[in-house]
Amino acid sequence: MDWVREFYSKTGSWWARADARVTDRDHRRVRLLREHGVESGDVLELGSGYGATAVATAKAGYFVTAVEISDRAHQAGELAGDVAPGSLTVHNADFYEIALPGKFDVVCYWNGFGIGSDADQRRLLVRVAEEWLRPGGVALIDVFNPFVWASWDGDEEHLTPDPAAGYDHDLREVTRFDPVTCTATDTWWETSNPAEPISQTLRCYTPADLSLLLTGTGLTLTSIVVGDQAFSPSPQPGLGALLRDNHEYLAVLRHDG
Ligand SMILES: C[S@@+](CC[C@H](N)C(=O)[O-])C[C@H]1O[C@@H](n2cnc3c(N)ncnc32)[C@H](O)[C@@H]1O
Repeated sequence: MDWVREFYSKTGSWWARADARVTDRDHRRVRLLREHGVESGDVLELGSGYGATAVATAKAGYFVTAVEISDRAHQAGELAGDVAPGSLTVHNADFYEIALPGKFDVVCYWNGFGIGSDADQRRLLVRVAEEWLRPGGVALIDVFNPFVWASWDGDEEHLTPDPAAGYDHDLREVTRFDPVTCTATDTWWETSNPAEPISQTLRCYTPADLSLLLTGTGLTLTSIVVGDQAFSPSPQPGLGALLRDNHEYLAVLRHDG
């Protein structure tokens, strides 16, 4: 996973001016936290990026600890301007390494789970269950949906600069999907510098795969939220929202203890 810090720091330097701000996406996540997590309490956010969701969560009255490995973490200070003192702590650190005091009512990982091998994912889930969640706590984890990522195999994008919106770079993207390992590889480069592409590789899991991955971790998949609709993880033949419409779904995981 050597690429992680560099990939998200580099892409963060391209997009922070436009994207490091609290938007409807962050307010939606806070709603999901209230509906599927707890009404108030202590929240650990893993892979918090620029910190926009962490800031929205803290402003909604939660006590938030956020962990982010890349330089994106440096944006959180500016965003957190009027957050109540003591309600947000951001660590620029690796969540596989960090030792955190205390436990949490909810652990969130928005738009990031799937970096690394299955063994890495299980290592993280065990930390969530054994070290971080209080008994009866909930983990809310966005999971990349293989049905949609597979349909994007070979897609190419050209992002032209839009300085008024904060996008200063001319960028290219190509997406590939490996159906054997069920991983998506998303590659970016500056149009002026095709010799230095950077890639993120994302393991995608169907809900059935995810349930297998959870075996023995101390966490159980109790529902999935696709778009804004919650489903039990029972057979759902023809569920278009998952087959075609959403590139990720939210997994609601209950602590077994
Ligand atoms: C796709 S980004 C999503 C960021 C943010 N959650 C959002 O939705 O905007 C995934 C984030 O997880 C962070 N990340 C990945 N592995 C990490 C690790 N081991 N420790 C801390 N952060 C990590 C990355 O640096 C990146 O910022």
